[in-house]
Amino acid sequence: EVSLFYRYNPQTVADIGVTFLEFGPGGLAAWPADRLSTWYEQEAGRPQLRFSPFKGWMNDPNGLCKAGDTYHLFYQYHPNGVDWGPMHWGHAASKDLYRWIHYPVFQYPEANLAALGATGGAFSGNAFFDRDGALSFYYTERLPAYDLFKDYKEVQKRMRPDKGLLRPVANALVLADGPEGTTHDIRDPKVWYDGDAGLYRMVLGSSVDGDPALLLYNSADGDNWDFASILYRAPPHFRDGGARSAECPDFFVIDGHWVLVAGFVGYTEAETGRHNLLYAVTGSFENGVFTPYSDQLQELDFGTDYYAMQSFWDGERQLAFAWLFNWEIRKPAGSAYSGELSLPRLLTLDQHYRLLTNPEPGIATLRTRKLEPANGRYTLADGRAVEMRISGKLNGLTITGTSASGETVTLTHSGESLALELSEDDGRITYRTPCRELADTRLFFDRGVIELFANGGLLCGTRRSYRVIDCASLWTSAEDSASVEVWEYKSAYA
Ligand code: FRU
Repeated sequence: EVSLFYRYNPQTVADIGVTFLEFGPGGLAAWPADRLSTWYEQEAGRPQLRFSPFKGWMNDPNGLCKAGDTYHLFYQYHPNGVDWGPMHWGHAASKDLYRWIHYPVFQYPEANLAALGATGGAFSGNAFFDRDGALSFYYTERLPAYDLFKDYKEVQKRMRPDKGLLRPVANALVLADGPEGTTHDIRDPKVWYDGDAGLYRMVLGSSVDGDPALLLYNSADGDNWDFASILYRAPPHFRDGGARSAECPDFFVIDGHWVLVAGFVGYTEAETGRHNLLYAVTGSFENGVFTPYSDQLQELDFGTDYYAMQSFWDGERQLAFAWLFNWEIRKPAGSAYSGELSLPRLLTLDQHYRLLTNPEPGIATLRTRKLEPANGRYTLADGRAVEMRISGKLNGLTITGTSASGETVTLTHSGESLALELSEDDGRITYRTPCRELADTRLFFDRGVIELFANGGLLCGTRRSYRVIDCASLWTSAEDSASVEVWEYKSAYA
């Protein structure tokens, strides 16, 4: 009964917007409002529609689930610095996927880590509801200096939370070693129960003889696991492009079709120099064998800032969050935190079984008003979050967003490609993707986060900019004003 958490907090999430809870002498207690607003208001560049930790570093979303009527988000967290470090699981909860209550740190790294000064800890993993509805989490523990010949070892663990989802009560090692041919990179379990086979299944990101690969494990009880097969081996150009391992696998079913999602550590695309890309492929999964419908992987987002996507079934829909970061461009010093999540996305398939990701429809509840153009421009108050939506097909399009300081972000569709151009520390930078036809374009600006959805959610581009931290005005070349809608959003934290 996870709705128990309301025992600690008599208000509803809707009433309080964002709140921080911490353990006090009498149990969980909310921070006083003045202490809250300091954290939030000092950060001019903090996205208003997206989750961010109130302080410290975050990366991958973990353990996503809906328990009762509440969404729970766990995430890779280093509370003691704004850089990656010994990994904890941060925790937040929400009724609507936008307004979050921040909970105390859920899981700490093994106690000896701090003493070692090493970087290991509780790595990524998923939430799993057993047949009796009991929730547990599977995750990777990275143990530094565990093996004299390698600099770390990754083992898989199962963690059971207490009733209120406030702390783990039992962590058990369930898998210590990978099969022959893998390396010390073996992580990020995705576990589910396969009712047809009467088996628990686990997918891990790893490699096989130098190719990034996803490994399938089976278990009769969820605690003792046997290597079953290589679920998927990445095509050779990933290895050639520097990929050493697969990570953050997701594997889920939509309308009877199985979708595999993964990132490939170390890979750089030769033609474009892009890295940090995330891929999907759809297929059938029968008797433990995944048969992709295509030998091409689908690139999920062309912007390079959409990584470690994790999806979950909320009882009605397959939803996902991803981490907005690419390692290359660091957040400027002086900020209390680093790392944010994407908008929650709704996952569906198109008629060719390709994965479509679109904003979760509840985002519309945060709209405040529709803006009308003056002299062809839409002007925003106080750098509010904004969405420009252009319906229908377009032959050629430019959208320009300008910040209060005069920085611009430009989206251009011409001929065969779509380009997103903006300023980075080392000058203007352009992300380009093949695109013959552009239709139904939705572009969101939110304090430095740019998320584009087009062609029904098949074409997505996400960029986290630390230069363009607001959008003061928007302009588009789209002529038919009837098809252009611009919506201003309120802050989810207001
Ligand atoms: C991906 C990743 C995961 C790992 C986690 C560690 O961003 O490297 O593979 O579990 O981050 O923080």
